[in-house]
Amino acid sequence: MKTGTMMRLSYYGLAAIMVGPAVLSLAIWSGLADEQRQATWAEEPGGISPSGITPTAIKKSPARLPEGELGRVVALGRAIVEDTGRHPLSKMHVGNGLTCQSCHLDAGTHPEAASLLSVATAYPAWSPREQRVITLEDRVLNCFMRSMNGVRPPNGSEVSVAVTTYISWLSSGEQIAMNGRAALGPRHVKPLKTDVSQADIRRGATLYAAQCSVCHGDDGAGTDDGPAVWGPMSYNDGAGLSRNDKLAAWLKVAMPLGDASLTEQEALDIAAYVNSKPRSKFVLKNHLPEPHRLGEYNARP
Ligand code: HEC
Ligand code: HEC
Repeated sequence: MKTGTMMRLSYYGLAAIMVGPAVLSLAIWSGLADEQRQATWAEEPGGISPSGITPTAIKKSPARLPEGELGRVVALGRAIVEDTGRHPLSKMHVGNGLTCQSCHLDAGTHPEAASLLSVATAYPAWSPREQRVITLEDRVLNCFMRSMNGVRPPNGSEVSVAVTTYISWLSSGEQIAMNGRAALGPRHVKPLKTDVSQADIRRGATLYAAQCSVCHGDDGAGTDDGPAVWGPMSYNDGAGLSRNDKLAAWLKVAMPLGDASLTEQEALDIAAYVNSKPRSKFVLKNHLPEPHRLGEYNARP
């Protein structure tokens, strides 16, 4: 855990100097030839990914940005995923202190922690939650309402198109295999084998104090080293992670950051503790834009 903390600190230190991770990647990019860009995403900053895994463990993002305007929009989407709460195109759609990469680690290029690699191949997909076939864009917009506790951006809006374009680009060259059973890609977080009813909240509290509070705070409200895990600045109770089984499975592969080493039972106990704490209630109508902005004609006037 100590290494994780140190990596995190150095990451934040570097990010602070460079004004922000999104600016950092764009700054590196603009000075580079296309061939060199492949390396920068997996390796920045300073050769260690924010989650602390070594670049070789990361399946590389596609080698090249597409030509011209399409490439610019891929880069824009990544910048939004990295800094959703502060990016001018997305911040008004965010209702907590998280970014997409708070959970989709390393801008979704982490191979296991809610990986966004290969995800676009699974869409359109059947969504049991919505009882509809949904597109990748719909799925992105749903994460804004739940995990980001925000207001759904309009379909076809610049932010929606950019994020969806970035996630699609991460699946470049892969075969489409639309998922008829769930809105989940082939690398989705593996469910744990441990019975979720066996979670022990009191044990979870002790483990949280020992392994998590250093970055997320005793009060769960977050610190400079990690975002809020409960309370109004975290995900709401309609988000995937508000389910103990989902959170436990994600913790197992993602936390403590840089040193994901919990046993299944520990992950489950901590998940039950974290999700026993208060968080915003999900009431659908509070997360939809005004009716006339629910859909948009995606064309230049
Ligand atoms: C609080 C954590 C959290 C945040 C923040 C979050 N997500 Fe998610 N997201 C999840 C989880 C958990 C899943 C389910 C993934 C799984 O089971 O592997 C998911 C699923 C997805 C999927 C579908 C993945 C698949 O396998 O089909 C997409 C696309 C997605 N999120 C996009 C986003 C975007 C874009 C943002 C930011 C606007 C975002 N998410 C913010 C937790 C989060
Ligand atoms: C070294 C600091 C650190 C430690 C220790 C740590 N985390 Fe995190 N955690 C983070 C950071 C940073 C993020 C956001 C990822 C990013 O931005 O790259 C995060 C994200 C999360 C998230 C998803 C976003 C949110 O805030 O809801 C959850 C849940 C979480 N951590 C729970 C835990 C739990 C439980 C533990 C203990 C087992 C733990 N973390 C240990 C730093 C840490």
